[in-house]
Amino acid sequence: TIYDDSDADLSVLEGATVAMIGYGNQGRSQALNLRDSGVEVVVGNRGDEYRERIEDDGFEALSIADAAERGDVICLLIPDEVAPDVFDAEIEPGLEEGNTVYVSHGYNLTYDLLQPPETTDVVLVAPRMGGWAVRELYESGEGFPSVLAVEQDYTGDAKAIALAMAKGIGSTQAGVVEGTADMETKIDLLSEQALLPIMMAAMTTKFEVEVAHGIPPEIVMSELYLSYEMAEIFEEMAERGYLGQLPFHSRTSQYGQLSRFDQFDAEPLREFYEEQLQGIDNGSFAREWSAEQDLDRPGLKRLYKKYRESAFFEAERETMERLDFGAEDG
Ligand code: NAI
Repeated sequence: TIYDDSDADLSVLEGATVAMIGYGNQGRSQALNLRDSGVEVVVGNRGDEYRERIEDDGFEALSIADAAERGDVICLLIPDEVAPDVFDAEIEPGLEEGNTVYVSHGYNLTYDLLQPPETTDVVLVAPRMGGWAVRELYESGEGFPSVLAVEQDYTGDAKAIALAMAKGIGSTQAGVVEGTADMETKIDLLSEQALLPIMMAAMTTKFEVEVAHGIPPEIVMSELYLSYEMAEIFEEMAERGYLGQLPFHSRTSQYGQLSRFDQFDAEPLREFYEEQLQGIDNGSFAREWSAEQDLDRPGLKRLYKKYRESAFFEAERETMERLDFGAEDG
């Protein structure tokens, strides 16, 4: 089911206070959007560098515990890795019967790391969009898609509240797809653990083959993504669909793309996807990542070091420095 503006009623939130816990990428944008939609918002944050911004933006800055106590809808928009501990220690004690716990990613619900009391509603509205764009697309009126899920419906109103929140943050303007937290976790993690690694492997392998054939690394790099041509192709794909944007390419390109896509043996990719999905489903990735975090992320640090020193990323860095172009130059 896909919901739009007409399916959501903001008056459900009349008289209610939304407690935004966290004021980072998502927290700030969602708080500002909700306030502009006429919803009463207070912000709960620890005493770090984000705190000043909250008051600068004109919100009341409370401790996490105070905000959780004040809120009727409690939005948990802090990093997923820390959310369960913060929830248990500072939020749960302040929850009242009939409150709503709201998250924007399913991970902690899928792996039972977050276990809100049975007397609360639990909803998910997960924007398919980065934090800054959540604000920008609200202001422009375009909106952005989200996945919505009701994970626990104690009051019987959870769906109406979730839809009102989705409208308040500006998502129903574009369309909200209903699913479950597990589905949202799966599509998110499978993009992270398979689609993006496959794309990176496709690009680094192209680099290796072309460089081995005597093409200078900076020429290879400029074709890959540093010129923004790839980003533009993806933008057109979102706008018109893949086939819809193909006519913007030369006929040679159109034929080259479609004929080789047709011939491509995707079986090894299918196996890789299946393998990663299995690790997501059976919780082995979540256990691996929890263990990694308990040790202060030695594996992640080792991988950063390994790839910083790789030929591909060295070529990327050098080409970026030499191209007088791109976001870094403003
Ligand atoms: P973030 O990294 O921007 O969060 C920063 C906020 O968390 C700050 O308010 C900071 O004070 C607070 N914080 C950090 N560590 C803390 C701790 N130990 N104790 C208490 N507060 C702490 O988080 P982001 O990226 O906005 O993610 C929030 C949620 O939104 C997550 O569930 C994430 O999966 C989800 N999400 C994020 C997207 C993004 O654009 N980054 C996209 C869609 C969903």
